[in-house]
Amino acid sequence: MTVEWKDEYNTGEADIDDQHQVIFKYLADLEAQMEKGVDERYIKMLLDNLGLFTRSHFCYEEIYMRRIKSPMAAVNKEQHEKLLEEYGRYRQRFEVEGISDDLVKGLHDFIANWLINHILKVDIHMRD
Ligand SMILES: [Fe+2]
Repeated sequence: MTVEWKDEYNTGEADIDDQHQVIFKYLADLEAQMEKGVDERYIKMLLDNLGLFTRSHFCYEEIYMRRIKSPMAAVNKEQHEKLLEEYGRYRQRFEVEGISDDLVKGLHDFIANWLINHILKVDIHMRD
């Protein structure tokens, strides 16, 4: 699947929207990389950076939601933790099984689906 940013993903909080777009950019980079064929070192670097960026974005967003007293703050944090757990499981599989097209595609699609669903069901409430 190819992911593209859409206006409907806007939360109304510019910094958070920018950060979400950075994650979309990482996913697009992964897609481009998959088309070229898997370069293990590059994919590892990309996944490390994506993991670090996502963690810092989650922190930022959780603090913001607490500050505006969003009723979705707890659900948001819980979903973030689940995503990071699953991400960690993928990273372990990369270590054990090595990097393959299937595994990279699996992780890409998992993050893409999760992100779109999460933005539309949870993050979007920052607009309220
Ligand atoms: Fe979120």
